Amino acid sequence: MGKILRAEETLDSSFAPPRLVRRDGELDLLRKRYRDALTKGGAYHQLVTGGIGSGKTAIAHRLGSDLEKGGKLGGIGVQRVYVNCWRRSSDRTVLHHLLRAVGVSLPDRGYALAEMLDVFEQGIRKSPRHLLVVLDEVSALVRQETKLVYLLTRSPEVNLGSISLFLVASEDVLPYLDPASRSSFGVTHRLQLKGYDRADLTEIVRYRASLALAPGTFPDEVVEQISALASGSGDARFALELLTNAARIAEEAGASSIEPEHVRAAKGSGYPTLTESKLEELPEAPLLILLALARSLRGPKARIPTERVRTAYSAVAEEFGAAPVSRVTFWRAVKELEREGIVQVEPTGSGQSSRLGMDEVPASFLETLLREKVAKRVVAGKP
Ligand SMILES: Nc1ncnc2c1ncn2[C@@H]1O[C@H](COP(=O)(O)OP(=O)(O)OP(=O)(O)O)[C@@H](O)[C@H]1O
Ligand SMILES: [Mg+2]
Repeated sequence: MGKILRAEETLDSSFAPPRLVRRDGELDLLRKRYRDALTKGGAYHQLVTGGIGSGKTAIAHRLGSDLEKGGKLGGIGVQRVYVNCWRRSSDRTVLHHLLRAVGVSLPDRGYALAEMLDVFEQGIRKSPRHLLVVLDEVSALVRQETKLVYLLTRSPEVNLGSISLFLVASEDVLPYLDPASRSSFGVTHRLQLKGYDRADLTEIVRYRASLALAPGTFPDEVVEQISALASGSGDARFALELLTNAARIAEEAGASSIEPEHVRAAKGSGYPTLTESKLEELPEAPLLILLALARSLRGPKARIPTERVRTAYSAVAEEFGAAPVSRVTFWRAVKELEREGIVQVEPTGSGQSSRLGMDEVPASFLETLLREKVAKRVVAGKP
């Protein structure tokens, strides 16, 4: 067991966290819809869509286990069956999985879909239950003109429970379904999960860090740095990957907690947006500003007041014998670096009150890289 990573497995994508941050509204709504229908002995079908890492799979697991543990509905218990269709992307392979889940099996070949479905219902009859069939990453299935979705939504109530669907996809899959199935997914049966914003991600990262890491090893500075990096995509998985990698890097470095430099290293190793060719293209002033920022960032801070960077910039310019640019030109160069995705400016506003960060690669690495380039460029440019 590491000093920082106490329960790394809880950061694994297969781990279902006990609590879902900032999804109470959605979960309450979904639980209510299923419980109301199942209590009356009916079925309910729902389609959930949303971007990568918006928590679709997590919400499916949470809903499934809440309904399972929630006791009997209309006198009958609930069983959730989860199938990832990405890996089992034909009606037959999905149905074989469902058969096993209700304790029956059939040879792989020789049976029509409808026959298999009969056996499936027999399996349910053996021990009465409502089935919640979660078909995750269902796009792979519906693009092959699935009949299974239709058959399951039209499956007669089996008297001893009902069969409900919970479809999960990154895009709207209704256009691919036949009109009859589509009618089971009217407006109130669709839910689009919004991507997480920065405040959501901050809370998610802090909560998941509290499960996985030793207390005191993930300062707010670092939690916010990670959330800022992931807020562009709203992708919680990306945020948690950064957290995991930063924690590993911190441990390998023998540090007692995660530092901003470890987050930068985690970002730079996985998804490099700052390349050497991008640096080659920069004019002298932004190059010197970046060097000043890299030097300022070698301490424990993820963000530095812009004025402090400007002071550091003046010193760097002097060191290399370059003429420092005006305040306005300095600010313009900073905004250009922000547009290039190299520098983070927050909060946006006047140059006075803002702070600057650079989360793309370790500051120490950038400093070394820039020192060489600046020396070549500025010195070569002299008469
Ligand atoms: N609200 C939340 N609270 C805590 N952890 C969350 C929350 N939402 C997502 N996560 C975690 O973030 C990661 C990504 O979430 P999830 O796998 O559910 O996304 P997804 O929408 O299914 O993505 P994909 O489209 O790639 O399948 C998982 O590790 C999940 O546990
Ligand atoms: Mg998923």
